[in-house]
Amino acid sequence: MKVLGIETSCDETAAAIVEDGRIILSNVVNSQIDIHSLYGGVVPEVAARSHIEVINPVIDQAIKEADLTWDQIDAIAVTYAPGLIGSLLIGTLAARTLAILKNKPLYVVHHIEAHVYANFLNETTPEFPILALIVSGGHSQLMLFSDHNDYQLIGQTCDDAVGEAFDKVAKIIGLPYPGGPSIAKAAQHGNPHAYKLPKAHLSGAYDFSFSGLKTAVLRAVQREVGVDITFPSSSLAELLNEVQRADFAASFQQTAIETLVDKTEKAFHGYSPKSVIIAGGVAANQELRRQLSERLPVKINYAPIELCTDNAAMVASLGFFQSKNNSPTDPFSLEVESSLSMAK
Ligand code: KG4
Ligand code: ZN
Repeated sequence: MKVLGIETSCDETAAAIVEDGRIILSNVVNSQIDIHSLYGGVVPEVAARSHIEVINPVIDQAIKEADLTWDQIDAIAVTYAPGLIGSLLIGTLAARTLAILKNKPLYVVHHIEAHVYANFLNETTPEFPILALIVSGGHSQLMLFSDHNDYQLIGQTCDDAVGEAFDKVAKIIGLPYPGGPSIAKAAQHGNPHAYKLPKAHLSGAYDFSFSGLKTAVLRAVQREVGVDITFPSSSLAELLNEVQRADFAASFQQTAIETLVDKTEKAFHGYSPKSVIIAGGVAANQELRRQLSERLPVKINYAPIELCTDNAAMVASLGFFQSKNNSPTDPFSLEVESSLSMAK
């Protein structure tokens, strides 16, 4: 079964065709990073306009690269939640229109659940029960998947998502958007023990918190450059030299990653899953991969980096597995949901 996936929930316009949920026939991603980096973050209105401009060419290219005709495509899958409302509307409108015009069944998928399916596009696929650490710009959660479409939330962030913390700390120390990759790069030249930063202790055994860590970096930078809390935080970065910047990047990354790994290790021993996977943009982080592999007594088959950040192959893969259990959605009545939790 060949599924066309469409993804527009944030700042990537993406379309892909995947066969039987596992084999990528094409995977086209048009990133808006260059546009949003001018503003230091995603501007929702700009994102929606950019999706409108490129959605049709991106879908056409995905079909062309897979060397298929519409007759050979069996279904369409699209992200309908969660994300920026204007962005979600563009992708779902394209998917609904195509489902009606081309007479194809339409499956709607949850963006965060779709991130998990990057791991089913890997050479070796995970076995259930799967412990999934899902870490993106909007989510940080631990989930246990007993099967496709059968999962439970076992822990989550109480405040900021870890990707959001990477993005905010990058801004504080003067590194470009998106913060995840730029902190990871700067950290390669920094000392992860240069600044002592706190790890949050929470009552929920598998919960996270990253807002305190971000504030701790802000306070440490203020101390380091010798200003008090009244000094405008937007001007702090100019006072740091390259060594300090790299040391802050490395110290922050070390603490954030350790927090994720501590809880994942704890959940591993608590739930004894057959496989562990990581998903979402922060899963691209090499230090996270290194520390997890070091601490967990199980082999983790990490998904390729380009499938960790937003793409439509993961959407098409989840669409395939959904088609096994669920009936298609009516394209005439589909509505988007900007903040839908995965917890049932
Ligand atoms: O999953 P994603 O592409 O979009 C959302 O659904 O949010 O994740 C984007 C997030 C951003 O916060 C970005 O800074 C972070 O993933 N990210 C990383 C890395 N690459 C992307 N964080 C840490 N290390 C990376 N290498
Ligand atoms: Zn995402």
